[in-house]
Amino acid sequence: MALYLIGLGLYDEKDISVKGLEAAKKCNKLFMEEYTSKLGVDKSKVESLIGKEIILLRRRDVEQSDLLINEASKGDVAFLVGGDPLTATTHIDILIQARKKGIKTKVIHASSIYTSVCESGLFIYKFGKSCSIPFPTENYNPSSFYDTIVENLKMGLHTIVFLDIHGEENRFMTVNEGLKRILEVAKERKDNQINEETLAVGFARMGSDDQVIKFGKIKYLINFDFGAPQHILVIPGKLHFVEEEALKLYQ
Ligand SMILES: C[S@@+](CC[C@H](N)C(=O)[O-])C[C@H]1O[C@@H](n2cnc3c(N)ncnc32)[C@H](O)[C@@H]1O
Repeated sequence: MALYLIGLGLYDEKDISVKGLEAAKKCNKLFMEEYTSKLGVDKSKVESLIGKEIILLRRRDVEQSDLLINEASKGDVAFLVGGDPLTATTHIDILIQARKKGIKTKVIHASSIYTSVCESGLFIYKFGKSCSIPFPTENYNPSSFYDTIVENLKMGLHTIVFLDIHGEENRFMTVNEGLKRILEVAKERKDNQINEETLAVGFARMGSDDQVIKFGKIKYLINFDFGAPQHILVIPGKLHFVEEEALKLYQ
């Protein structure tokens, strides 16, 4: 009776750790979600590697039902999550529920988008609060991400900007769409703190053989073709000379 929360890592089936793979192989039931992050390969690749069938869960199966907890109270269960399972997800809730019910839990960490952006040269300890840009809907079009970026810029800190993902519908926000939305908010607010001259770093398919890192002014990146998903954006703050030197390699 245990619940294993296993990170799948950044991009494909081979990014799972050896520990994660061994734990998954021992579990009676395997579940996976693709709504917080989606691998660049199909679930079937992960199934072939582990040698077991994996049941795909929707957000509501995880957040609005006790399915995982009920299964883990009967046997060893693995819940597989893209990237690191506790980074920019709400899966700590599942661990809390399981522990309250006396179910043993084990987290097996993996590579994460959160740290991979440091390949650009940006120092991890100079990042401020992160934010997300959601796909606008009729009733929901927040712009609070803009305040987060501006507050960080004032303190000289970098901002990770998560781009919306509707993994179940294969809909992913691009760096271009994210930048357009940032400039749109600046215009609506008649604010010039972020503008076409502001520097940004765009990332695509981190962890893959054709990953892209591109640094430059927003006016340049907004039209750059980053290719297939997933994408993420960083608005850098004050740059150390080593960060500058590294970023120039991606201009
Ligand atoms: C909500 S976060 C979840 C992060 C994940 N738990 C992790 O540790 O990597 C997912 C967002 O990160 C970005 N992302 C995740 N993996 C990525 C990758 N390999 N390359 C580029 N962006 C990625 C996308 O913007 C996506 O919407």
